[in-house]
Amino acid sequence: MNREFMLDGLPVAFTEGQTILQAARAAGRYIPSLCWHPDFPPHGSCKLCIVKANGRHVSACALPAREGMEVESDTPEINGERRALLQMLFVEGNHFCPSCEKSGNCQLQAQAYELEMTSARFDYLFPVRPVDASHPDILLDFNRCIFCELCVRASRDVDGKHIFALTERGIHKHLVVNAESGRLSDTDFAADDLAAHICPVGVILHKRVGFQRPIGQRDYDHEPISQVAMEESS
Ligand code: FES
Repeated sequence: MNREFMLDGLPVAFTEGQTILQAARAAGRYIPSLCWHPDFPPHGSCKLCIVKANGRHVSACALPAREGMEVESDTPEINGERRALLQMLFVEGNHFCPSCEKSGNCQLQAQAYELEMTSARFDYLFPVRPVDASHPDILLDFNRCIFCELCVRASRDVDGKHIFALTERGIHKHLVVNAESGRLSDTDFAADDLAAHICPVGVILHKRVGFQRPIGQRDYDHEPISQVAMEESS
């Protein structure tokens, strides 16, 4: 017998152990996310998947679904909270979308469009973050990091290399390269590592292919991220 919970008033079937987000996506229902990736355990850092489950705020990517649960996701209140989370991400890094190679393929930008973020709302922090162009094939622009740790996890758990790490806390938190020099060229990072292909924003960029796919023809130029995500998972 199928077990079910209610998502925005409609039933979603789930199997034991599936999180709210996993079950929703499997049922063709989109809950926004940034740090979640289907091939990795939940990370729970971005909070964009926030929902109300039986009246309490929870991360849909981390909480297992339970029979009869009442989950609210696509409501003005929850989407307003998601928008505020995005606004905080935009001001704590340096995100200059018009000049970014990832524009149109960037999940942060696409979430901001879909959640109708029209201003930064908070004061920009303008952190000073370096760019590392030392590697022959990869450019690192730390200004765009959203701390999802997908590159950290992919490099550690799949590539077996431990190339990246987050250091410090709060507004001083930032991504670093695990080398004494801090330079990517002093590691064995390779362009075909999974970590080189998993960044949802524009931190890890491949050299010599910039703008090969023109602006206007990119992942989120014609369809919102919710639609692209559901097409990819179907
Ligand atoms: Fe759930 Fe990031 S997707 S916390």
